[in-house]
Amino acid sequence: MSNIYLDNIIDLYKNPLNAGQLDQASVSYRAYNPLCGDEVTVDLLIEDDTIIDVRQRGNGCAISQASISLLTEEVKGKSLDEVMAIRPNEVVEMLGIELSPVRLKCALLGLEALHQAIGKYMNNLKSQ
Ligand code: FES
Repeated sequence: MSNIYLDNIIDLYKNPLNAGQLDQASVSYRAYNPLCGDEVTVDLLIEDDTIIDVRQRGNGCAISQASISLLTEEVKGKSLDEVMAIRPNEVVEMLGIELSPVRLKCALLGLEALHQAIGKYMNNLKSQ
């Protein structure tokens, strides 16, 4: 079966976007799926409540890795509030394929990493 979205997911898996790490990251967070052991780590560079730059790295299934690739493109230049407002269904729309509940967890691992990273950043600010 040929499906343009599926092809895109496989392509992103092989050639991830914004892969690597940021030495000057304002915050990093590693999200982990205990069901399979897959993981996604994000580094965010934040200035004036805006994501200036982002890198990601991880190990896992094609859906989890493609999803964080797409999300890194989506969040660059956005405010922290805008990123916190990204909902699971928007990630599913970005991927463009039907997802079973198990696969949905894969798709949302990257969003969890981003949301948790921002939460951690806000907490760090409060405790300074
Ligand atoms: Fe582990 Fe997809 S199978 S995140």
